[in-house]
Amino acid sequence: MRVLTVVGARPQFVKAAPVSRALRADHDEILVHTGQHYDDAMSAAFFRDFEMPEPDVNLEVGSGSHGAMTGEMLRRLEPVVLAHEPDGVLVYGDTNSTLAAAVVASKIAYDGGRRPWLAHVEAGLRSFNRRMPEERNRIVADHLSDMCLAPTAAAMANLAREGLDERALLVGDVMVDAHAWAVERAGAHLPAVAREHDRYVLLTMHRAENVDDPSRFAPILDGLSLDLPVIFPVHPRTRAALERGSHGLPDNIIPIAPVGYLEMVALESRAYAIATDSGGVQKEAYLSGVPCITLRSETEWVETVEAGWNRVVDADPTAVAATLADEAFMNRDRPRPALYGDAHAAARIVAALESHHARVTEARSPQKETAQ
Ligand code: UD1
Ligand code: UDP
Repeated sequence: MRVLTVVGARPQFVKAAPVSRALRADHDEILVHTGQHYDDAMSAAFFRDFEMPEPDVNLEVGSGSHGAMTGEMLRRLEPVVLAHEPDGVLVYGDTNSTLAAAVVASKIAYDGGRRPWLAHVEAGLRSFNRRMPEERNRIVADHLSDMCLAPTAAAMANLAREGLDERALLVGDVMVDAHAWAVERAGAHLPAVAREHDRYVLLTMHRAENVDDPSRFAPILDGLSLDLPVIFPVHPRTRAALERGSHGLPDNIIPIAPVGYLEMVALESRAYAIATDSGGVQKEAYLSGVPCITLRSETEWVETVEAGWNRVVDADPTAVAATLADEAFMNRDRPRPALYGDAHAAARIVAALESHHARVTEARSPQKETAQ
């Protein structure tokens, strides 16, 4: 089986790493990087940390508006798929790279009429917040895909509600696989700044609807003015918003450059609490057993909230301090069931691709056509 994988943004390198490793054991993978993220700390660092092979193709699309970026991806990806004629295309998550790859794969046909199947990993997530570009991207990717590989029962229910249950399969979350792999290696990678503080809050923030909206960004930053140090690896979108805006960081926030995955896992596991608007970091907080404060109005990862490990506080400037002062929430002595799977999602995904591929190949066989 020959699979063409498309990634482009930081969380997709994390998700693709375990699947790529499992896939390459028995199959051919062509790894295409759209170039959506390109700084060393946003891209190459992840390939090094996961000991992943370099991408076979980099489309070098870079930054731009949604339309310009997605359009360039469509234009540059189509000939690559035609040149490699993969049996299937594999996409991850909900970025513009996901959207573009899903659109290309679902419409392309090779000479002779053969078409690749399309599989979407992390299918079925919904925030029900239509302002998020990610919500549009993931809805389109799910509806174009032949296989919706879902991480949770909640995601399966969302797919069923949209009539996609026949294409949906619960495989667990590949970020658990990635995290389990990294935990064993992260110990030596704790950044020096964290060693200087016994107790710190780890902060990440990059959602466009937070950092590009001063009416949310300012109260969130005000709310992070605490008695505790806050270690803040700053995403480039957020760095640009801070440079543009008039609102500076409170003195207790320690901004650092984005860190690699092993450093991040080390920072997470030592944190007193994590404050974030990231999807992946909410789950990693749970996996690390660290209370999480989500700086959004909702979350796709509802299980972490239901289990009592995550609190969604929106942009309320008083909520972070109040949550840190809530002893019941900060007390880690509560169950932490395996909500996101058993770290074998990658193997299940490869098995699902193999059986879908076998079905498609069988349906296409000449005997079958003659018999019909
Ligand atoms: C993208 C995804 C988002 C995901 C996030 C992960 C979309 C619509 N958004 O958001 O879902 O959570 O990645 O981090 O696809 N920049 C750099 N260097 C880089 C990359 C970006 O300087 O290597 C700067 C550029 O100024 C760029 C801005 O960051 O315009 C935003 O990058 P972009 O990829 O458009 O969106 P993200 O906010 O990263
Ligand atoms: N991450 C990282 N270094 C950082 C910030 C995040 O390695 O400085 C990792 C994080 O551990 C998680 C992934 O990047 O695995 C999440 O990506 P991001 O928050 O950018 O996107 P989201 O998950 O919100 O789509």
